[in-house]
Amino acid sequence: MSVITVKTAPIDGQKPGTSGLRKKTRVFMGPHYLENFVAAIWSAIGGVRGKTLVLGGDGRYFNDRAAQVILRMAAASGAKKMIVGQGALLSTPAASHLIRLNKTDGGIIMSASHNPGGPDEDFGVKFNTPNGGPAPENVTDKMVAAAASITEYQIMEAQDVDLSTLGTTTLGDMEIEIVDPVADYANLMKELFDFNALRDLFAGGFTLRFDAMHAITGPYAKTILEDTLGAAPGSVVNATPSPDFGGGHPDPNPIWAKELMDVMMGDDAPDFGAASDGDGDRNMIVGRNCYVGPSDSLAVLAANAHLAPAYSDGLKGVARSMPTSRALDRVAAKRGLDCYETPTGWKFFGNLLDDGRITLCGEESAGTGSDHVREKDGLWAVLLWLNILAKTGKSVQQMMTDHWAEFGRNFYSRHDYESVDAEEANAMIEGLRAKLPGLPGTDVLGATVESADEFSYDDPVDGSRATAQGLRVTFTGGGRIVYRLSGTGTVGATLRVYLEDVSDDPATFTKDTQEALKDMIARADHLAGIAKFTGRQAPDVRT
Ligand code: G1P
Ligand code: ZN
Repeated sequence: MSVITVKTAPIDGQKPGTSGLRKKTRVFMGPHYLENFVAAIWSAIGGVRGKTLVLGGDGRYFNDRAAQVILRMAAASGAKKMIVGQGALLSTPAASHLIRLNKTDGGIIMSASHNPGGPDEDFGVKFNTPNGGPAPENVTDKMVAAAASITEYQIMEAQDVDLSTLGTTTLGDMEIEIVDPVADYANLMKELFDFNALRDLFAGGFTLRFDAMHAITGPYAKTILEDTLGAAPGSVVNATPSPDFGGGHPDPNPIWAKELMDVMMGDDAPDFGAASDGDGDRNMIVGRNCYVGPSDSLAVLAANAHLAPAYSDGLKGVARSMPTSRALDRVAAKRGLDCYETPTGWKFFGNLLDDGRITLCGEESAGTGSDHVREKDGLWAVLLWLNILAKTGKSVQQMMTDHWAEFGRNFYSRHDYESVDAEEANAMIEGLRAKLPGLPGTDVLGATVESADEFSYDDPVDGSRATAQGLRVTFTGGGRIVYRLSGTGTVGATLRVYLEDVSDDPATFTKDTQEALKDMIARADHLAGIAKFTGRQAPDVRT
């Protein structure tokens, strides 16, 4: 086995977005593409020599090939050890846990999350730092700089490593430990939640359907929910990870998890339904005839987390991404908790969690998590919900009714306009940005603008500043519209419009969300000219 130095040159567009570098799989498979970016990661972390990293991915197409390349490059550059999930598989939260458990120098996660997989779909690579969380911007900036000036990389000339057998092997001088992807994560869940109460819940006839969407959480959910907690065999469906996620779109929302929605809205619906995404960090919660929006789910979890052993002493504080609904803020205000507002993307929660300022956090995009790892965690959210239901004896529907009665309801929806022309989308944002200073005090279709600005975030822990994180317009009475462009898309631009309105009148609580937001939707178009710039009369996806 010998180390080869390969001459290369920078490749355009190697810039991590909201969550790592995501591109079309064929782009990643192109000459030097993956290799250049991995070499840029090594540069950004001061070299990989002598270091120990975790490696795994969501099993999508090219996951196995990419793992072999990364291992050969790590060995060639002097890494001490790689801890790899069997079959190069690891859910994102499980990878985060392994980094923390083994106190490694970080890890590489191969995933494009909820984006479809396959030769013509998406692939991604993300570096997580020793705290287990996604690399913050000062690290990704170094990746961008290294990728933009790369001239060569090192790789080992070697056969593939057998990643199918548990145990320790070597590649050159580098040790490779192949671990069960599920075991350590399952142990962590056992520490956090009242597994006896959950066993009793299922023994008492509670029924569940967990849709793994042909993605990574299948094996995790089967082990924990069925084998350990006693959910009926077959409760976990679409449980075998496949390279193209069964041809589906592994994003747990009512559109892409329609099969689950249909069952939950049907006559024989189980008590509880849930789904997770490609890499296992997102979650969707749905009760019998009762879909729970992610922002509401976050608020319910914050209000009731103390019912689980890990959080029985109460929460240190909570956080949400800026566009996430302010249902969480209402809980925080009533319970006397600090509530932080961060830019979109999990990496912004890391410092708050590390600094002990918050215990629980989440995003409107179906991400919730806590200080147990430094990623959002789909199955964790499901288990916390189940723990709360077990302790309260309530149905999902009852939980929601009681929650709104106590805190009021924040109607909330996100409208996505996908693959729109990037220039037009930018022109729309620029036009609105210019209008913002003049908006406060004006009337927009019957509502008065209270404030209008572009969100910037000053990290209270390290003082770093993130600018241009979304345009927001707030109305008197609590309504709000937020506009931002996605940082995870791989084609054109995706415009996200986040709509919110509040009500404290119980008579309105059961209203349809889109209906309740009708006026806000009209205001959003009126203010920004969405139809004019995108050429679309309606969004592609409403969540
Ligand atoms: C999206 C979500 C964001 C989430 C990210 C990674 O990013 O909106 O909340 O953290 O995926 O899962 P976006 O495409 O909006 O930049
Ligand atoms: Zn994900």
